[in-house]
Amino acid sequence: MHLTNTISEYGFISKLFHWLTALLLFVQIPLGFYLVDLDFGKERINFENIHVIIGLSIFYLAILRLLNNFFNPTPKIKTSSFFGQKFIARLNHVLLYLSILTITISGILKKLFNGEKLNLFFKDIQIQDNFDLADQFYDIHIIANYTLIVLLTLHILAVIIHRYIFKENILKKMI
Ligand code: HEM
Ligand code: HEM
Repeated sequence: MHLTNTISEYGFISKLFHWLTALLLFVQIPLGFYLVDLDFGKERINFENIHVIIGLSIFYLAILRLLNNFFNPTPKIKTSSFFGQKFIARLNHVLLYLSILTITISGILKKLFNGEKLNLFFKDIQIQDNFDLADQFYDIHIIANYTLIVLLTLHILAVIIHRYIFKENILKKMI
């Protein structure tokens, strides 16, 4: 297996980043919904800290993935089962990145405008609180989460539809 992408195959680095992000997201999304239902107290603070650490890891991973994509070719989608399929596939990938960046950046801004200290890129950051803005960024956090869930469902459905309807195993490109 190549370390980096070729025009026909994803390399090890892309695959590793892809599955690490998937794994973290499958923990992070339920954790977020679980956390907001908890009563205020020690347990909630602990879970929120874990949520922030995992969230920031997903944020750094997204940046690394975009850099990796910038310096590497994107493997071509070989076959097209219907008109516009390649475009839809690429659009799904772009929107997945956009929703992840929106969720993580809005989460970061919600915490910062709450007046809380956050360690970003190895630097402690704290700004003047603004609770209205914190609320607005939290609304964005929630909307972007539902968008991500829809995009992920379509992403996974596409793999299943390709396998069973178009008889094409696209999953092997990513493993
Ligand atoms: C069970 C879960 C998942 C499966 C089975 C899966 C499967 C795949 C497959 C087969 C491809 C290659 C598509 C192609 O080029 O034709 C792909 C690419 C991609 N997937 Fe997933 N995926 C999963 C989860 C995720 C998650 C959670 C994300 C969240 C960001 C994601 C984001 C992407 C992106 C952005 C690409 C384009 C390549 C890249 O930039 O890394 N996938 N996925
Ligand atoms: C892709 C990464 C992330 C996902 C999938 C995610 C998901 C979620 C979800 C589903 C909720 C519950 C929303 C609701 O129904 O009210 C939530 C809440 C929250 N998230 Fe995230 N989040 C992510 C990243 C982050 C980051 C990076 C931060 C901050 C640095 C953050 C901070 C918060 C906070 C403060 C809450 C509210 C907790 C509370 O009300 O006590 N999240 N998140």
